[in-house]
Amino acid sequence: MGVQPEPQILFSKAEIAAAVKRLAVEIKKDYQGKHPILIGILKGSFVFMADLVRLLDFPLEVEFIQLSSYGRGRITPGKLKVVQGLRSSIKGRDVIVIEDIVDTGHTIAFLMDYLRKKKPASLKLCALTDKPSRRQVPVNIDYLGFTVPDKFIVGYGIDWDEKFRHLPDICFIEVEE
Ligand code: PRP
Repeated sequence: MGVQPEPQILFSKAEIAAAVKRLAVEIKKDYQGKHPILIGILKGSFVFMADLVRLLDFPLEVEFIQLSSYGRGRITPGKLKVVQGLRSSIKGRDVIVIEDIVDTGHTIAFLMDYLRKKKPASLKLCALTDKPSRRQVPVNIDYLGFTVPDKFIVGYGIDWDEKFRHLPDICFIEVEE
């Protein structure tokens, strides 16, 4: 293995816990009694989703979906497709999509279109982090944890080349592009 970049903390686990708590309060206020379905986008959302749902003490369901992006570069979007779909119907249901990071916006724009066609009663987006400096398509984020600078973000579920997902803090790394 070559030299690994050294992650620097951007948001500590205490700051993350406070942000997740804040988001849970907002979501609880809007969805209590509605029995929503939370859809996590794999893989990056798994840590965030696990912490978030444990603060939502009302009935809800969880689902996961995984997309693949063939031939994707950092700037150019690849061709997106769903590789693991939903196991239950969302027709007429209140749906909240859980994402780890909105970057160019292509992934979430594609996914929201895909889900909208399945006729949910409502569809909202909860994102842990947003990197608006790199946006290529407009995205409306209903519940947001942190705005992040144009740096390579890792940790708390987010990877660099499948590494660093396990870090408890949200960090950045300096990498050659
Ligand atoms: C990351 C992240 C978002 C997407 C955001 O996923 O989880 O889904 O990129 O990028 P965009 O706004 O430029 O489309 P990635 O493809 O790295 O997969 P992963 O979640 O499995 O790490």
